[in-house]
Amino acid sequence: MKEILRQLEELRATAKLGGGQKRIDAQHGRGKLTARERIELLLDAGSFEEFDTFVEHDCHDFGMEKQKILGDGVVTGWGTINGRPVYLFVKDFTVFGGSLSKAHARKMTKIQDMALRTGAPIIGLFDAGGARIQEGVDALGGYGEVFTRNVQASGVIPQISVIMGPCAGGDVYSPAMTDFIFMVRDTSYMFVTGPDVVKTVTNETVTSEQLGGASIHTTKSSVADGGFDNDVVAMTQIRRFVDFLPLSNRDEVPERPFFDDPQRTEISLDTLIPANPNMPYDMKELILKVVDEADFFELQEGFAKNIITGFARIEGRTVGVVANQPMVLAGVLDSDASRKAARFVRFCDCFNIPIVTFVDVPGFLPGTAQEYGGLIKHGAKLLFAYTEATVPKITVITRKAYGGAYDVMASKHIGGDINYAWPTAQIAVMGAKGAVEIIHRADIGDPEKIAHHTKVYEDRFLNPFVAAQRGYIDEVIMPHSTRVRVSRALALLRDKQIETPWKKHDNIPL
Ligand code: HXC
Repeated sequence: MKEILRQLEELRATAKLGGGQKRIDAQHGRGKLTARERIELLLDAGSFEEFDTFVEHDCHDFGMEKQKILGDGVVTGWGTINGRPVYLFVKDFTVFGGSLSKAHARKMTKIQDMALRTGAPIIGLFDAGGARIQEGVDALGGYGEVFTRNVQASGVIPQISVIMGPCAGGDVYSPAMTDFIFMVRDTSYMFVTGPDVVKTVTNETVTSEQLGGASIHTTKSSVADGGFDNDVVAMTQIRRFVDFLPLSNRDEVPERPFFDDPQRTEISLDTLIPANPNMPYDMKELILKVVDEADFFELQEGFAKNIITGFARIEGRTVGVVANQPMVLAGVLDSDASRKAARFVRFCDCFNIPIVTFVDVPGFLPGTAQEYGGLIKHGAKLLFAYTEATVPKITVITRKAYGGAYDVMASKHIGGDINYAWPTAQIAVMGAKGAVEIIHRADIGDPEKIAHHTKVYEDRFLNPFVAAQRGYIDEVIMPHSTRVRVSRALALLRDKQIETPWKKHDNIPL
């Protein structure tokens, strides 16, 4: 018996070495941790239970039958993050470059099935060279099985991908179908085809970083939701991130102990809005002053900065925050901002996370670049996402809410549950200058008349009271009381129920 136990331990020790010490050293030499070191940082100490440690590939081509490594390039199992379960698959680059074989895919799909069945998030750590070249169509089929489960799990359990090394070919499409992608700066990259193929096909010369590094995907392509400086920071931040998420769409939002008084007033908010309506101010200051302990996990921070998206807590419960940012492009809605916020709103709605929206938006961005780029469709994504969302929706208009963007930003008319405005709010079809130039075109040459018309327009429309008189705004609130009002509204809406007509699924403008 003792001998059998010893053999088991020996096998486990062999499996833990993956592709061997030389390749582990090479992995460290590139500034990356190994699969198992990453797991240790990500999960609660001692909580990891590994599955399929002894799985090997069954490929007999290209001499592969002589090269078998226990685990076959992916470590799978489950564990806990701050006591809550998560499932994991972690690519092991030291084993055939983490490439995906049929056996490797089966390990992944087993974990995906279990996560879906038991209702817990699944986290994939990617560091891999795509399809196992020696396995051909078996590897491609394996990807298809993984993709199918990504789609089945979408909207049922949170799916998170962290790119921690190369990620090419088949490996990019599974993350692309998950809810969130994070990358490690300088050591990770993701692309469909690498620099060599790019050179051959388009004659462009690019490095891996220029083609698909974190610097690109967090700012230009918006493929990634965030970037971290190294593996250790990445694992620590993913732990923090998972704490915001429900385990599944059957679960309530997590509730954490909180130390921030929901009755807290913030007098400094009474002077946040500058006297000049064209002066910017930092909307993040408002977010941080309203949410619990100023703890805000921002997503897509480097992309479409004119809108802010992220998770926070109020009274210990997760909320999704969407806010126009007057510091960037005056907070205007453009195609990128609309897409960014629409996807975030849809995630919140899938997982019962209430949405708090702070509005200061001068409208949609005009111009050929936007129109040719499909602003109509992209703007419609955000309108659609907010309108279909049945989670509690609380809106606070701080300053401008002009034109179509007023409607889009969780207005009463598209199902906002509680809509507040600060006294500084200006709810109108457009700003005074544009409005006067259209309705008093004949007077454009007369500055005195234009000044008069502008004053009349500003006095009549650039305030919250016309909307409040009609009940489109539930109450004009003091800025300093925003946290109190939002907390109370969230508590009120906790058991919100809403009936929607049966449908197979909707057809959001893509
Ligand atoms: C088998 C692979 C492999 C692969 C890497 N390796 N990729 N083995 N299949 N796809 C092995 C290498 O042979 C090597 O083995 C080890 O992993 C490390 O690879 P290196 O090349 O030495 O490392 P590095 O220089 O860091 O380069 C990493 C890399 C490169 C950029 C990922 O290996 C690479 O370009 N690989 C091929 C990528 C690719 O084209 N994959 C197929 C995509 S098509 P040893 O024994 O020396 O350690 C695809 C289709 C799916 O995925 C489509 C579904 C929709």
